[in-house]
Amino acid sequence: MHFAGAFPSTRMRRNRRDAWTRALVAENALSVADLIWPIFLTEGAGQRVPVPSMPGVVRVSPDLAAEHVAEAVALGIPAVALFPYTPIERRDEEGTGALDPENLMCRAARALKAAHPGLGLIGDVALDTYTVHGHDGVLRDGYVHNEDTVAILCRQAVLMAQAGVDVVAPSDMMDGRIGAIRAALDAEGLIHTRIMSYAAKYASGFYAPFRDAVGSTAALRGDKKTYQMDPANSDEALREVALDLAEGADMVMVKPGLPYLDILHRVRREFGAPTFAYQVSGEYSMVMAAVERGWLDHDRAMMESLICFKRAGANGVLSYFALEAARRLKAG
Ligand code: PBG
Repeated sequence: MHFAGAFPSTRMRRNRRDAWTRALVAENALSVADLIWPIFLTEGAGQRVPVPSMPGVVRVSPDLAAEHVAEAVALGIPAVALFPYTPIERRDEEGTGALDPENLMCRAARALKAAHPGLGLIGDVALDTYTVHGHDGVLRDGYVHNEDTVAILCRQAVLMAQAGVDVVAPSDMMDGRIGAIRAALDAEGLIHTRIMSYAAKYASGFYAPFRDAVGSTAALRGDKKTYQMDPANSDEALREVALDLAEGADMVMVKPGLPYLDILHRVRREFGAPTFAYQVSGEYSMVMAAVERGWLDHDRAMMESLICFKRAGANGVLSYFALEAARRLKAG
């Protein structure tokens, strides 16, 4: 680190004086290639249903999925992350909907791959959108059973990969699932399917709007503290990431985003692996609520939050702002 001389020979404001020097000395930049756009899916045809707790976000039926992402593709967004909405009456104890090759995820993946072969598809591997209790796995005596859940997740991951999902993204936080899913994919010859692990995923209050979006709010019994991480912990996140990388994760994620930039920074520094942040639903909705009240400027809050992820070390960000940010980047 170079330490400059003192004022007045050193004036930090010189480089901030004009837009062109500010641009020259900028240490980080956000590009459209950094953005992953999460997409919510719903049954039916011709459906575009607003999510009330996430202003500007809709659920689309599979027939509209390709059209829904067309602008994102044209703008250069590399990948979308798919999440199915499942009403309570279509859920069951074991989350069997996850293993239906005709489920929303698989149908949408096939439609999107056919329409946009160059678009990366990320599929959420977890049972929370299929279970009647809203947990990410199956319950045995009221506890989410690790090994029974992992066995189902392996089959879920293989099915979505066969439907065209390029990146399976286990968001369940079971132990040992990355290695098991890697082996299950390889056994089916799916050696190119990538795994983006939700490696350091916290038991967070900031997921509430997402649970509305996928239909889990009414379903969820209790909380997820027996498998998701305690927000008080940081060293533990490094152990989680180390294990997932050792088991074969191609990319790791820290989630939520802005409140956990310290974790993101440590993970990127320590491992140097492709590291992603998830700016989750509650973070998005907080900004949007303030924007609606005229308390925050939409574009400034959006672009500032996204560059903060880059500064902290993210290779990319999953964000509900992705399309708007891509538009903004293009406009310059
Ligand atoms: C569940 C899952 C969650 C999110 C992504 N996958 C919610 C949860 O763990 O309860 C949250 C995403 C968001 O809040 O935007 N497998």
